[in-house]
Amino acid sequence: MQGKIFKALVVEEFSENQFKSGIKERSTDELPEGELLIRVHYSALNYKDALSARGHKGITRKYPHTPGVDAAGVVEESRSHEFSAREKVLVTGYDLGMNTSGGFGQYIRVPEGWVVKMPDGMTLRESMIYGTAGFTAGIAMYEFERNEITPDKGKVLVTGATGGVGCLAVAMLTKAGYYVVASTGKPDKEDFLKKIGAKEVICREDVNDKSEKPLLLKRWLGAIDNVGGNTLSTVIRSLEHRGVVASIGLVQSDKLAMTVYPFILRGVRLIGIDSAETPMEYRLKIWDNIGNKWRIDEPGQLVKECKLETLENEIELILKGGQTGKVIVNLID
Ligand SMILES: NC(=O)c1ccc[n+]([C@@H]2O[C@H](COP(=O)([O-])OP(=O)(O)OC[C@H]3O[C@@H](n4cnc5c(N)ncnc54)[C@H](OP(=O)(O)O)[C@@H]3O)[C@@H](O)[C@H]2O)c1
Repeated sequence: MQGKIFKALVVEEFSENQFKSGIKERSTDELPEGELLIRVHYSALNYKDALSARGHKGITRKYPHTPGVDAAGVVEESRSHEFSAREKVLVTGYDLGMNTSGGFGQYIRVPEGWVVKMPDGMTLRESMIYGTAGFTAGIAMYEFERNEITPDKGKVLVTGATGGVGCLAVAMLTKAGYYVVASTGKPDKEDFLKKIGAKEVICREDVNDKSEKPLLLKRWLGAIDNVGGNTLSTVIRSLEHRGVVASIGLVQSDKLAMTVYPFILRGVRLIGIDSAETPMEYRLKIWDNIGNKWRIDEPGQLVKECKLETLENEIELILKGGQTGKVIVNLID
């Protein structure tokens, strides 16, 4: 059978370490092997996608390439017993958009083991408002629950709060009943953060202690950290006894300089989050929670929708740390 022609963002290396991207026609014949051919209706923009779109070889080794670690769509061809044609599904992480052609194209072909059935009553569009960002925030919340960081016990902090993971974390934690403190470098976005649930909004510099003191005043019971570096070190040094921090991102720095005192004197716990390789057993539990008890009442407040044609502007903005909220990509036509 002849492959289907579709539209995709294609990033090419035109000379060594020089990259350009544009919208091109591709054929499903070019897609990798996999049990499921999925017609993508929506994708979402993540920081990692922006790096892949700029030729970051630590993320994508080979170009030409179509990024997009998130995709929601309808199964068009199935060689799986688990999924049938016309079923609504989503894929986040694994190798999608890294070295496997990703969600910034109207078709993907993937192994059945990467695919999740759409949570009950959730539209394809709504699932991509969460995407990897919401799923990652969900893993952190799952770890809070497993470690008895419950809403009745104290305040929780979210750093990089206006970003994709950050704003989903603020809104989902609020939905779950937590008292959320949001830290941001965008003072003009205080209203936005309060509207989506933050009880307090603090300045990024307030969580960037340069004193090198091994322990700081206790401020939070739990934290979701999206920025790393000295911010993560400050958060760890400021956690309450037996507090938990989920380490998610590195937009400030990938370094962590501190002593072990918070761990051995306060029993603080540092939990690493790797959303891409989360085993399917946990993945299904987290998506079930996202579709139920953590489901945001007004997800539309968080979202900016674009098309493939305008995605470049959004990629540029996320690389500058300038996005507020979640960007989703409409690939319907
Ligand atoms: N571990 C995982 O599985 C996983 C999954 C998804 C994402 N991530 C990582 O999580 C991070 C956030 O991803 P994202 O997609 O949410 O990105 P994003 O939308 O760009 O959000 C990052 C936010 O961090 C803040 N920020 C930016 N530059 C900063 C700096 N120099 N110092 C301090 N804060 C800064 C900004 O928020 P404010 O202006 O509000 O401070 C920005 O909006 C990235 O590092 C990404 O790679 C990891």
